[in-house]
Amino acid sequence: MNRPNTVQWQTAEGIVYLKPDDALDSSAPGFLDIIDQTLLPGRLERLKLSDPEEIFHAIKTLAVRGAPAIGCAAALGLAACAQRFHAATRSEFLSRLSGTAEYLESSRPTAVNLAWALNRCCTAVRRSEETDPAILLRRLLNEALEILAEDIDMCSAIGRNGLSLIRNGMGILTHCNAGALATGGCGTALAPIYAAKEAGLNIRVYSDETRPLLQGARLTAWELSYNGIDVTTICDSMAAQVMREGKVDLVIVGADRVAANGDAANKIGTYQLAITAKYHQIPFYVAIPYSTIDRSIPDGSHIPIEQRHESEITTFNGKRISPETIKVYNPAFDVTPAKLITGYITEKGVVSAI
Ligand code: MRU
Repeated sequence: MNRPNTVQWQTAEGIVYLKPDDALDSSAPGFLDIIDQTLLPGRLERLKLSDPEEIFHAIKTLAVRGAPAIGCAAALGLAACAQRFHAATRSEFLSRLSGTAEYLESSRPTAVNLAWALNRCCTAVRRSEETDPAILLRRLLNEALEILAEDIDMCSAIGRNGLSLIRNGMGILTHCNAGALATGGCGTALAPIYAAKEAGLNIRVYSDETRPLLQGARLTAWELSYNGIDVTTICDSMAAQVMREGKVDLVIVGADRVAANGDAANKIGTYQLAITAKYHQIPFYVAIPYSTIDRSIPDGSHIPIEQRHESEITTFNGKRISPETIKVYNPAFDVTPAKLITGYITEKGVVSAI
């Protein structure tokens, strides 16, 4: 496995997630060091976080976002917090670890990777027989680093596998941002696109703007153009027309949680895109690592859908655009039924059912 020997986070800009490898468990406390995605593409600024409230806030406000990325951030963030526990005993360390993990997990409900990564870290520490809190801390950091390393490898494998679906000259539509900014590596939905570019294929990407927080217009457009890929941003409402014009040969999206029957929760607007793709007989693929599959739930109706603040809809660029008196409904995700999904691009291969 391609395990990084320093803690790094790969983004469209290169490696910008830096911490000395041993900073998290040495006498100099480490930090979770992330790009503040709320400021992109206008400003590229970093946030250095070290306490649970800051990390919770960064996840909640989408400073770090995307299912695999919030899993990695929570795991590494938990290690940064744990360095400041100053616990005297194993039981004190474990109790503070569980409390912090539970709190971080409550920041966003839909992406299963968040709970998965935190649970994996806590289980790894609990399974260790060690009594010395310093050794437990090292165990925690190793697990968090392992999660990041696996995520990087998983993205590359999804890219290689998804490349088999792409032909020269294709138009590919994507929704939200499931790229380098949303993962530890080069992305899920965008990984095959990067692989196609590397293979010398000419492709055009259509990036839905993704109302209300504009992850497509701000983040996907930014990282693809940064990496020299032909990208055209469209409003979400234009997808059907662009498909009818014959510009789209393939749709690839990511997911935050996939139920045992293959129903997939992803950014709001994905479901209508799948219906539209079906009508136009365009293949619709969901790119996911296996860590996004939640086999504990039989179907998508059990996936918790995050409800977000009404101001995301009633304001634009900080200015109110709606009357004060209206009601607002703002679910952040929707569920695409498995029967609308042509297949899943995973790190193990492209499959028609999971
Ligand atoms: O609210 P966000 O920006 O975190 O939503 C992200 C998505 O919907 C992504 O498509 C999904 O997490 C997959 S990221 C590889």
